[in-house]
Amino acid sequence: MSSSPSSEQRSSAEAAPASGLTIDGVEAAAIAAALGTPCYAYSAAAIRAAYQRVDRAFGDLPHAVHYALKANSTLAIARLLRSFGAKADANSMGEVEVALRAGFTPDDIVFTGVGKSPEELERGVALGLLTINVESPGELDRLDRIARARGTVARVALRVNPDIDAQSHPHISTGLKSNKFGVPIEMAPALFREIARRQGLRANGVHVHIGSQITSLDALLRAAQAAVSLAVALRAEGIPIQHVDFGGGLGISYDDNAVPDPTDYVRRLVKLMAPTGLEAIVEPGRTLVGPAGYLLSRVVDVKHFEGGRRFVVLDAGMTELMRPALYGAFHKIEPVQPRGGVPSLVDIVGPICESTDSFARDRLLAPVDTGDLIVIRDVGAYGAAMASTYLRRPLAPEALVDAGGWQVIRRRQTLDDLLSLEA
Ligand code: LLP
Repeated sequence: MSSSPSSEQRSSAEAAPASGLTIDGVEAAAIAAALGTPCYAYSAAAIRAAYQRVDRAFGDLPHAVHYALKANSTLAIARLLRSFGAKADANSMGEVEVALRAGFTPDDIVFTGVGKSPEELERGVALGLLTINVESPGELDRLDRIARARGTVARVALRVNPDIDAQSHPHISTGLKSNKFGVPIEMAPALFREIARRQGLRANGVHVHIGSQITSLDALLRAAQAAVSLAVALRAEGIPIQHVDFGGGLGISYDDNAVPDPTDYVRRLVKLMAPTGLEAIVEPGRTLVGPAGYLLSRVVDVKHFEGGRRFVVLDAGMTELMRPALYGAFHKIEPVQPRGGVPSLVDIVGPICESTDSFARDRLLAPVDTGDLIVIRDVGAYGAAMASTYLRRPLAPEALVDAGGWQVIRRRQTLDDLLSLEA
C-alpha cells in the first residue's frame, strides 16, 4: 500500500476532512489542512473554564488571578484571559510589554525575575507596575536608587524562599535554599524593615513561588502557610502589607494520574487568608492554558529495521515542543484520524539532528503511516512559548478555536521573517 494518499485523495481530504479529533466541534484535520503542520491549536472554551474555576473558588475573598504569561504569551491568548478578568504576571520586560499591548494596565501587572536588568528595573519603575517582586538585597538597593532618582516610589514585594521541596522535576523546582530564587524566608523581616526605611520603596506584598507542575498539595500549602504567617507578623509590626502572592505551580495531569484539584487548592488558600484581611494573588500558568493546547503534526516517515526499534518520525520536533527533550516530560500522542488496527510500541521522534529530539520511547501507538496527522496533547503551556528556530525552522502557526469557529492567531514564520534581522 502506498504510504501517502494520491494528490486527488489529498485534495478531497482537504475539502472535507474525514472525521476524527475535534476541538470544541472544529475538526483538527481542517485546521492542519489550512495552516500546514506542525501547528498549534487552542480551545478558548477550555481556557475560559479553567480561569473561571480558579477565580470562582476564591468566593468573596479579595483576590486577583495574575495569568503567568510565560506559559503562553501569544497576544490573542493574553487578550483572551484579560477578557475573562485575569491580570498578568510577567517574568521579563518583553512579557510586560506584551501585557500592555494586550490591554493590561501597569496596575494589572506583577513583575518577577531572578535577574532583572537595569533597563528592566528602570522601565518597571517608570511604568509604576502593581508590584515588582524583589529577589535580593542588591535588587532592593538598585530599585530604591532608581525610584528616588525619578522622584517616585516603587511598589515592591519580597520573593521569599521557604526552603520547601516542591517534589517536582528538579529543573522546575524553585523553593529550596539551593535554588537561585528569592531571599531566605528568615531574612525577610529584616529586609522588610529595610524597605520601610527606603524613601523610594513601599512594600505591598509577600511573594512565594516554589516551582511548577507541582502535584503535592502539601508542599504548596506549607509554602503558602509560611508566606501568610510572615505577612501577618509584618502587619503586626506596622508594615502595611496588602497582599500575599502565592505564585503559580499547580500541576496538571498529563497522563491521567490524579493531581490536586485547583478548586480544592484555592479553597485551602481562602481558609488561610480569610482571617487576615489580606488580598490573595495567584499566578497560574499551566493550569489555565496547558490542557487547552494541541500540537498537530504529520508523520514524515516510519522506519523499522530488523532487530531495531520502530520509529515514527514527525514533522514537529523539539523546536516546537521542547518539554520532552528538556524534562523527559510525558505528553499523550494519538493519531487524529485513527485507522484502526492493533497498537504497537514505537518511538515517536522529531526530525532534528539530536537524539534528545524524541517525544516518546516505547509508546503504544495505533497504526500510522507516512502523511497521517498526529496530535500531541496538553501543550498549551510552555509549548509555543518555548519554541526555537534551531535548524532555521520557522516558528509554527497558532490557531484559536472559539464559539464553533477558529482563527489564526499567529501565522507561520517565514524564512524572510527569520532573515530580516540579519546583515
Ligand atoms: N509565577 C512565577 C514566578 C513563575 O516562575 C512561574 C513559572 C509561574 C508563576 C507559573 O507557574 P505554573 O502555574 O505554570 O506552574 N518550562 C517549564 C515550566 C517552567 C515554569 C517556570 N515558572 C515546563 O515546561 O514545565
